[in-house]
Amino acid sequence: MSEFIPVGPITDFADPSSTLVEVDDESVALIHAAGSFYALDDVCTHDGGPLSDGPLHEDENPPAIACPRHGAKFALTTGAALTMPATQPTRVHEVKVEDGQVLVKLTV
Ligand code: FES
Repeated sequence: MSEFIPVGPITDFADPSSTLVEVDDESVALIHAAGSFYALDDVCTHDGGPLSDGPLHEDENPPAIACPRHGAKFALTTGAALTMPATQPTRVHEVKVEDGQVLVKLTV
């Protein structure tokens, strides 16, 4: 069973920002936007692009991140693929802040 794993102090993650973090040897895009944290697999389901390098669209509904390779957008809250060329969702993970630390729990 997966546990919450600390990835760093909240002050390491500006708002807005997208940061690649390692959680149990998995690459996770940790996003801080509009006061909330989100964690998605750092893998675009179209062709493996690194989502943490893509532009944030935090003011859209739903808030999203775009793949830097071909521009597919994924919802920060659900990982749903919102635009082509991606058609499959990416995995999302739980995030919480405790005592000034950001913690991520991998979805298995
Ligand atoms: S690899 Fe992400 S849109 Fe193509």
